[in-house]
Amino acid sequence: MKTLRIVACSKENPPRITDGIAIDLAADAAMIFTDEAHEVREKCRIAALLGIGNAFLVIGKEASEISKERDKLQKQLGFLSLEIIPASQFSAKSIYEKLDKIVDSSSFRMPIESKGETGYKGRIASGSVKPGDRVRVKGIDSRIMSIESEEGQRNEASTRDAVTIRLEDGVELEKGDVIASALDPVELSDQFEAKVVCLSDHLVPGRPYSMKIHALETGVTITAIKHVIEIETGKHLAARKLEANEIGIVNISTAQPLPFDPYAKNRMLGSFTLTDSMNNEVVGAGTIDFALRRASNIHWQSLSIDKFARAGLKTQRPHCLWLTGLSGSGKSTIANLLEKRLYALGKHTYILDGDNVRHGLNRDLGFTEADRVENIRRVAEVSKLMVDAGLMVIVSFLSPFRSERAFARSLFQNGEFVEIFVDASFEECEKRDTKGLYAKARRGELKNFTGLDSPYEPPESPEIRLDTVSIAPEECVEKVLGFIGGSHV
Ligand code: ADX
Repeated sequence: MKTLRIVACSKENPPRITDGIAIDLAADAAMIFTDEAHEVREKCRIAALLGIGNAFLVIGKEASEISKERDKLQKQLGFLSLEIIPASQFSAKSIYEKLDKIVDSSSFRMPIESKGETGYKGRIASGSVKPGDRVRVKGIDSRIMSIESEEGQRNEASTRDAVTIRLEDGVELEKGDVIASALDPVELSDQFEAKVVCLSDHLVPGRPYSMKIHALETGVTITAIKHVIEIETGKHLAARKLEANEIGIVNISTAQPLPFDPYAKNRMLGSFTLTDSMNNEVVGAGTIDFALRRASNIHWQSLSIDKFARAGLKTQRPHCLWLTGLSGSGKSTIANLLEKRLYALGKHTYILDGDNVRHGLNRDLGFTEADRVENIRRVAEVSKLMVDAGLMVIVSFLSPFRSERAFARSLFQNGEFVEIFVDASFEECEKRDTKGLYAKARRGELKNFTGLDSPYEPPESPEIRLDTVSIAPEECVEKVLGFIGGSHV
């Protein structure tokens, strides 16, 4: 099968004619560009699988052949509308004009963009609203006091109007909260089942992404891939990650509870894009099927003895000392010596070492990219708990990917996380080859070996860099102690 290019687009970022599909989930439209009649069916199926209601076939030479199939396709795949547009007549503007005319029967929703002097500013995502209407926000009932737009006070406002809404006193809202009809309020959750289409090379469970949904941006992870849908047959296939253009049914966990609607109910509040937290590129787009639990059911238990109380008893400042580097670079040697020195200073420590943790907690994981992401996610969470217990935790994991190390860092307060790059070149590590793994990998007996057929992304700005080629392990340890001593161990 030829790889299809799927891109996310929007009114502000309209598609150019290209070979593939441009999807705008918020507008509920797919624009399918092709010259090949036989590809139309497949592309339409992708749009239908995502739950998109309106498809436009922008067609070059063979339009007549496809025209014959139009009615059948629309009926089979359940599109509300399926229109054929000759490529010579295509303009994104005319498509958006058509979409603007589609009647919106959803209830009133307005995601808040900002707080102004006279009320909350935003654009109405769906429905209409009048002063006096009862609304619900964050589970609290309130009433619309006034609606204002550029033209002045309004008696009514509806979908796509940019307005400032003043509510009865008693609720304090912020960007990303949603003012919704009290008769049909929005749901709130931090765990979802969603359909996601992969718009980059791959999407990996456990990796931190950023989700943009209505006026909100929040950190998310894919916690599980339930299955990938095979486009030609609709069959469910097992998968550990989503590859380019694949559509998967996934579970998603968000860093904060989101006000949302399922996509089938409200496309503006049920569609999202995923971006790479490291470079802000769009890597996926998706639609929410339903919440897996209500946000209010599981609370973070706040305990009265905190990290500082626990660490105070030990007269130390808890840290996560994170060693990253190639296999054989010297992480374990340095970790060991470092722990001995800290122990001698009367500090309470613990070493989390890749080889050891992989015998227990992470025994189910191998060395594929997806498994390494999960390996680091788990050890980052464990080291966070250990820092919370007041310990000096030394983490000695290869941890080859920048985004997972950034995730680990994000779990800690300023100054707690110390990234230590144990730096020795691949050639040097291969020369040392203490475990004989480099030789094995060279013989082709070890797959996904870091530095050979699996990448190592060196830290860009680690707190400490230890050059283990020119500096002895003892001296490396002094460097680390010097650094954390500066922050009053
Ligand atoms: S990580 O990439 O997921 O962070 P981790 O630190 O847990 O790796 O494990 C790395 C250790 O596993 C190496 O020190 C080495 O002993 C062993 N190992 C076995 N297979 C591989 C491989 N394919 N690539 C790298 N290390 C491997």
